Amino acid sequence: MNTVKTVRELRAAVARARSEGKRIGFVPTMGNLHSGHAALVTKAAQRADFVVASIFVNPLQFGANEDLDKYPRTLAADQQRLLDAGCNLLFAPTVEEMYPDGMGVQTRVSVPQLSEGLCGASRPGHFEGVATVVSKLFNMVQPDLAVFGEKDFQQLAVIRAMVRDLNMPIQIIGEPTVRAEDGLALSSRNGYLTPDQRATAPVVYRTLKQLGEAIGAGQVDFPALVEQGKQQLEAAGLRPDYLEVRHAVNLKPANFGDRDLVILVAAYLGNTRLIDNLYLHLDETTA
Ligand code: PAF
Repeated sequence: MNTVKTVRELRAAVARARSEGKRIGFVPTMGNLHSGHAALVTKAAQRADFVVASIFVNPLQFGANEDLDKYPRTLAADQQRLLDAGCNLLFAPTVEEMYPDGMGVQTRVSVPQLSEGLCGASRPGHFEGVATVVSKLFNMVQPDLAVFGEKDFQQLAVIRAMVRDLNMPIQIIGEPTVRAEDGLALSSRNGYLTPDQRATAPVVYRTLKQLGEAIGAGQVDFPALVEQGKQQLEAAGLRPDYLEVRHAVNLKPANFGDRDLVILVAAYLGNTRLIDNLYLHLDETTA
């Protein structure tokens, strides 16, 4: 697996693969890779002949008080993990390579409705930063397909909408969340948790599952269920940012009769913000 740092080298390597008739798969990441990322690369390797991954901690998607500076940078370990998962080329650009004119970059991509609320409410500008960097990366790599984790459910919805609205000829594939044995969704930010916090953290997924089971069993009073869920998180020492039941495709608040639902949660454990979600498809007997 080659690692390249410039757009020029990236384009040359992808052009070579394409001239050999290869289908290009792409997995954008911010590094500090875990088995969840490996699953994205494995999926890309199953669907494409040449897999490009990127590692770039994108300043544009971090708020002023967020963890941009302390976000873990672990390039050597990441390279090994990518190689093991079947990646062919790593693009690991500098900030200057990605934003030669600085962070005041003029052209931005925004997907306003889907970016409102949920994570967008407490992270203003975050999804504009994500959509902008992902469209830049898409233009640099020009992949046939790209794989994203379903753990970042709102991000995936934003990217799907962007690709559709801007006619980008790229198939977007969502890959299910990889969890630790106790249910905690794998995330680079789990590394910030103290051992005590790590022992508490699975309450997030437990809460989602309990809500999911209640809704699956026919409970329709979503506000009451959400309130119970928040109380459970608070009792465990977390500070819920949001816990919501939404329509799984357009992310609008769920209505009675909707069959494709997603329960989304973000909660602080100490200073660490954990997010997770649970997709629910209700059949006719339950909705
Ligand atoms: O999900 C991530 O790691 C990032 O938001 C992404 C998609 C790599 C864009 O910086």
